[in-house]
Amino acid sequence: MKVFTEKRPLKAYLSAIKSEKKSIGFVPTMGALHAGHLSLIEAAQKKNDIVVVSIFVNPTQFDKEEDLVNYPKTYDKDKQMLESIACDVLFYPSVKEIYKDNISSNHFDFDGLEHQMEGKFRDGHFNGVGTIVKTLFEIVKPNVAYFGQKDFQQLQIIKKLVKKHHLNLKIKGCPIYREEDGLAMSSRNVRLNLELRKAAPFIYKTLKKARKKFKTKSAEKVVSWVENKFKKHPLLDLEYFTIADEKTLETLIHKESDKKYRAFIAVFAGDIRLIDNIKLKQS
Ligand code: PAF
Repeated sequence: MKVFTEKRPLKAYLSAIKSEKKSIGFVPTMGALHAGHLSLIEAAQKKNDIVVVSIFVNPTQFDKEEDLVNYPKTYDKDKQMLESIACDVLFYPSVKEIYKDNISSNHFDFDGLEHQMEGKFRDGHFNGVGTIVKTLFEIVKPNVAYFGQKDFQQLQIIKKLVKKHHLNLKIKGCPIYREEDGLAMSSRNVRLNLELRKAAPFIYKTLKKARKKFKTKSAEKVVSWVENKFKKHPLLDLEYFTIADEKTLETLIHKESDKKYRAFIAVFAGDIRLIDNIKLKQS
């Protein structure tokens, strides 16, 4: 595996690859890699000649300094994992290499997608995501970039970014990778203590029950059912549970038979924020 910490030699290396008409698959990450990331890399390996993974804990997408400080950083283990699955290229830049002396986000208009759900609770988060993802796309110039559906809002926003800025690549959304007990894989899971780790699968269990209820009940009823379930939970604090249109991410008021809906949830387990979502069917 080739490891680059600077943009310039990476760009030169990848432009030689491109001139050989080889396709580049790209998996941007913030490290603390787990099986979910590996599934994205495998998907990229199946369809591309070479795969580039980036590890960069992007400061501008964290709205709370403590969240950035506490974000797990496991570079040596990550590198070993990538080598073990024969990843071709790792890009591991410093903050200075990406932002020079100006650690700030650009402002993006994602046609309102950015104001829903995560956007209401994480100030400036999607400007930070847009800034780093666009920067990385400009450096790597991939043919296809792979993102997990756990961050479904992020995935829709990145598709919008590509469309609005006429970026020449495809975005592939990949299924949520789960632990055996249903907890969606996340780099943050390693921070859960034993008690919280045991409690956390309640999130997906509740989502599955909500999916069943949605077939016969209104969105309003399902939302209040979920809110009540969490009110009674001794360890998990619900931040939001929303049923929204998959495309616009706007909260569902009245079901329409030709629309696709998804339920989205954010929960605090102690100070660790977990998100998940589930696709819904109307019948
Ligand atoms: O999903 C993530 O890990 C990050 O938001 C991303 C896309 C790598 C940008 O920093």
